[in-house]
Amino acid sequence: MLKAGEYKQIAPVLFGSGMIEEAGKKAKELGVSHILLVCDDGVKKTGLDARAAKILEGDNVKVTQWSGVQTDCPDETVEEAVKIVTDNQVDGIIGIGGGSVLDTAKAIAATAANGIGILDDIISYLAGEKQYENHPLPLMLVPTTAGTGSESTFVAVVTSSRLDAKIGLPCSADCAIVDPELTMTVPPYVTAFTGLDALSHANEALAEKKNTPHSDLLAYEVIRIVKEWLPVAVADGSNKEARENLSFASNLAGIAFNESGVHIGHACAHALGHLHHIPHGVCCAILTPAVIRLQALYYPEKMKQLGNLLGAEIVSDDPEEIGRKAAEAVRNFVKEVGIPSLKEQGFTKEQIMEALPVVEHDPLAYAFDGQVTEDVIKNLLEYAYNEE
Ligand SMILES: [Fe+2]
Repeated sequence: MLKAGEYKQIAPVLFGSGMIEEAGKKAKELGVSHILLVCDDGVKKTGLDARAAKILEGDNVKVTQWSGVQTDCPDETVEEAVKIVTDNQVDGIIGIGGGSVLDTAKAIAATAANGIGILDDIISYLAGEKQYENHPLPLMLVPTTAGTGSESTFVAVVTSSRLDAKIGLPCSADCAIVDPELTMTVPPYVTAFTGLDALSHANEALAEKKNTPHSDLLAYEVIRIVKEWLPVAVADGSNKEARENLSFASNLAGIAFNESGVHIGHACAHALGHLHHIPHGVCCAILTPAVIRLQALYYPEKMKQLGNLLGAEIVSDDPEEIGRKAAEAVRNFVKEVGIPSLKEQGFTKEQIMEALPVVEHDPLAYAFDGQVTEDVIKNLLEYAYNEE
């Protein structure tokens, strides 16, 4: 029987090499006359910010630039940018960059329209107990890495100084431009961990409470594409076909986990990333085998299919064996693309277990469609730590 659920597609996506050229036309369609171009120093160095500004200005959209984005979107950077929006009477936002840039652009769009007070109460907005008084400013998102999927999800992951935690502030794009050419210069290690972030989104979407046959379909395709093309892009970043496939997979994974969701793996990844400043995709890559082992107890057929897509050749119907073999296949894949284990990165078990109380109190962990207890989280972190 097919599981009932809701399909969502939150914003139009312009996909394809060269689509960045459409940015000005799209901004106009959204009614934007003066846009804040949000990026970080990395994007600035490539000159992409100047290129995008020229495209926007070519369509008579005035551009103010702000490149103060910092990793993991600290809330004080959002406040800084909102002041610029107000001072310059900006009426739209475009974020160009990796996950932190896209999340920061989202948070600016919501906060500029509703006041910085919303940053004091992110939990209520995330839980749906409070609604914004005003619609966020028109927002365009342009990813320059293939992994985050943030251009197609409904939250901005913000590092809240008020809560001393990473948490999701609701806001989604009005238009995404997924142009694979913009990812061509991403270095191999970043290519590897962002691609594995997309894989983790697909994996967790298969077993989050809101999963549907539709989100499953997207998730399996993401897993297939990442398996085929991630090693190619890591070995040769100039391979256009690999970059196009990975950008497509990243966006599909974003749609899948916006419709379904991520859960305990991302709760652990947010905690470890916040505690020890490990890149998000690296955390997800290392946690995914442990998450698969847990998911196999509740969704053995799905994990069998996932394992086989990753080359595991699983024939058994025993959930534990499926979990073990599928987890092993993912761990081998993670190693193949060059992500070191937590031990190889020099972490002690005690450091990793510091995440336990944080994850225990994170509602995201309980979005998993199975039982989550202190022991389950502890086992998951231990398994992730003990991987070689
Ligand atoms: Fe992620």
